[in-house]
Amino acid sequence: MRILFLDQSGKPGGAELCLIDIAKPYCNHALVGLFADGTFKDLLQQNHIPVEVLATQAIQVSKESTLAQGLKSLVKLAPLITKVVKKAREYDLIYANTQKALVVGAIASFFSRRPLVYHLHDILSKEHFSQTNVRIAVNLANGFASLVIANSQASKTAFVQAGGRKDIVEVVYNGFEPKNYQTDESDINKLQQDLGLEGKFVVGHFSRLAPWKGQHILIDALSKCPPQVTAILVGDALFGEQDYVEQLHQQVAKLGLENRVKFLGFRSDIPQLMTACDLVTHTSTSPEPFGRVIVEAMLCGKPVVAAKAGGAMELVEHGLNGFLVTPGEPQELAQVITTCLQETEITATIANNARTTASKRFNVATINQQIAQLLCNRLSLPA
Ligand code: UDP
Ligand code: GLC
Repeated sequence: MRILFLDQSGKPGGAELCLIDIAKPYCNHALVGLFADGTFKDLLQQNHIPVEVLATQAIQVSKESTLAQGLKSLVKLAPLITKVVKKAREYDLIYANTQKALVVGAIASFFSRRPLVYHLHDILSKEHFSQTNVRIAVNLANGFASLVIANSQASKTAFVQAGGRKDIVEVVYNGFEPKNYQTDESDINKLQQDLGLEGKFVVGHFSRLAPWKGQHILIDALSKCPPQVTAILVGDALFGEQDYVEQLHQQVAKLGLENRVKFLGFRSDIPQLMTACDLVTHTSTSPEPFGRVIVEAMLCGKPVVAAKAGGAMELVEHGLNGFLVTPGEPQELAQVITTCLQETEITATIANNARTTASKRFNVATINQQIAQLLCNRLSLPA
């Protein structure tokens, strides 16, 4: 099956990292068309996935856009759409991985007469998007997509609640290669030494720096934890959230936590860094559509505390394979962190359970099979 994947981002967010795993099995007959240049292109190339940057001009539609702004940018999109229509004729299928890719992909699907698949990585609700953006995404998916792949039940439910067609949407979780999360003990010791983490109880947060990812909740919680609890914040502001980064640094200074919080920026050694932690926290204040970091922490055998909303509730069962806390409640988070610090045996058992079940449930080979089957059954295309 020849697939033209489309993604608007030049930077590797979770949706883009997921796309690498999805595109890999098709790499001999596929192209990933990006609407921006950047490090995501390099990552695709490292994975031997053909990639082309199709747009050089940034597409100015934000999550809060109005209809007028949207229409204006549609006119600007004309050269990109023309390019995508031409490309699509060389492929059997268009696979849109982001919302702007859906807009371009839907129009290209119409003109090239190629079926469209939309991989929905978002919860289409007012907590995340303007009403206009939700309406555009739902209408385009309803009108043009043969299949919508939702990254969780939570994303599927929000899609249907916003008027999305039930008959075209299927849930497929992100897939992971468990082997990638097995690390060398000597590498971890070295990392702990380099980062000055020895002898500390290290809580890790792995996410781009953005207000709804809630790094401020962890910092606040830290001030309520015993002094040996230290945090590493791994990730960068990928989509221009510089004010938030500034606020986080100010919060750390105000609470006098300079020696207990380390900002590590964007890193590519996530399995090693997670393994160097005692605990991984997820603190999103709006419902997380899926939450790759939660599964990754489980695969590293680390206890994980996640914010109880959205897709995270499908990944974590409190007390069985992790812990769930009320989103936006630093006091509750501090309590769970302190319990994990004290109850090491139970916590380790929970983390081990999580590793075993996550290795099976989110195995990339099984997930890729599910996608291949859906593409074949729903689109009646050659395998
Ligand atoms: N990640 C990374 N380097 C960083 C921070 C995060 O590679 O410095 C990865 C992380 O391991 C995860 C992804 O980025 O695979 C984030 O995906 P998630 O679903 O957790 O959140 P998103 O950012 O997509 O909303
Ligand atoms: C999006 C979501 C995240 C999800 C990822 C992969 O970036 O914000 O929750 O894990 O896509 O599906």
